Amino acid sequence: MKEKIQHLIEEVRLVSISTAEDLEQFRIHFQGRKGILNGLFEEFKTVANEQKKETGKILNDLKTVIQEKIDLFLLESEPNNEKPVSDLDLTRPVNYMEPGPRHPLSIVRNQIIEIFSRIGYTVAEDREIEDDWHNFTALNFPEEHPARDMQDTFFIEKNPDIALRTHTSSVQIRTMEKNKPPIRSIFPGRVFRNEVVSARAHCIFHQVEGLYVDKDVSFRDLKQTLLYFAKEMFGESTQIRLRPSYFPFTEPSGEMDVSCNICGGKGCNICKYSGWVEILGCGMVDPAVLENCNIDSEIYTGFAFGMGIERITMLKYQIKDLRLFFENDLRFLNQFKGVI
Ligand code: DAH
Repeated sequence: MKEKIQHLIEEVRLVSISTAEDLEQFRIHFQGRKGILNGLFEEFKTVANEQKKETGKILNDLKTVIQEKIDLFLLESEPNNEKPVSDLDLTRPVNYMEPGPRHPLSIVRNQIIEIFSRIGYTVAEDREIEDDWHNFTALNFPEEHPARDMQDTFFIEKNPDIALRTHTSSVQIRTMEKNKPPIRSIFPGRVFRNEVVSARAHCIFHQVEGLYVDKDVSFRDLKQTLLYFAKEMFGESTQIRLRPSYFPFTEPSGEMDVSCNICGGKGCNICKYSGWVEILGCGMVDPAVLENCNIDSEIYTGFAFGMGIERITMLKYQIKDLRLFFENDLRFLNQFKGVI
């Protein structure tokens, strides 16, 4: 039997496998159920015990030679013979996904933070679910003010009043309750109002609030800070205009317009041919608000402002429909690729 196997080893060495069919035939002939190897292993059972060790060894050699012949063919038939025999590559990354661009609202929020941080403003965030005190009462909203109406506010619970915050001004109160002046911070965040969704309004939107409280803070400081911001955001030639307005938490209060960055102030459909677009509300913090937070209004004064991030982004990138920010349409979002 040993000689027969030896012979077969020589034979296998001489076989040339050049096609997949050759391979198949070779396999069946040697490794098939009724093939040579199985036959030999059967026969091996009958080999005398003292012969078993030696015969077993060359039988295994034959098995190895057959397998090597098969592996060699498979390796050489690969287009790139450095590749492993199998296609299975456990180091391949799973379902590669291209990194997405930053959302335009995040881009603009980061720009706002960066602009104010250059003049010493810190950033703070706080809760989106607020109580009546922080969203309304401490901000000097009278009991019957229409903004408390169920039409505008998403109440979670009545008595005690818990609601989704309607503006980031609530963070002014949270900050003044926790810190003593000087306070110089901005508060970006998401706010909620019971509005009908349209091209110009949404029930979810984003604001950045600003607050500066210290000794001798004046309206002049407010105006200069906002002029700096407008120029940094919309370009050096931007001008600002303050119009008197009313907010319960500031006195005096104003609304700020910037010169239209699209037509340069000449008049276009974005600025409704006025040359100006409104971007924020502002004013001197009402002394009653400081007192509500245990800050002595005889010693300290302050200013505050609040702007909508959607509005600034729409102006900056000339986006006409606010709903685009919330629809996750990649045709829209991918236009911001490369903007950091
Ligand atoms: N909270 C106001 C709003 O949501 C915006 C605002 C106006 C914030 C005047 C202020 C401010 O801090 O002084 O419409």
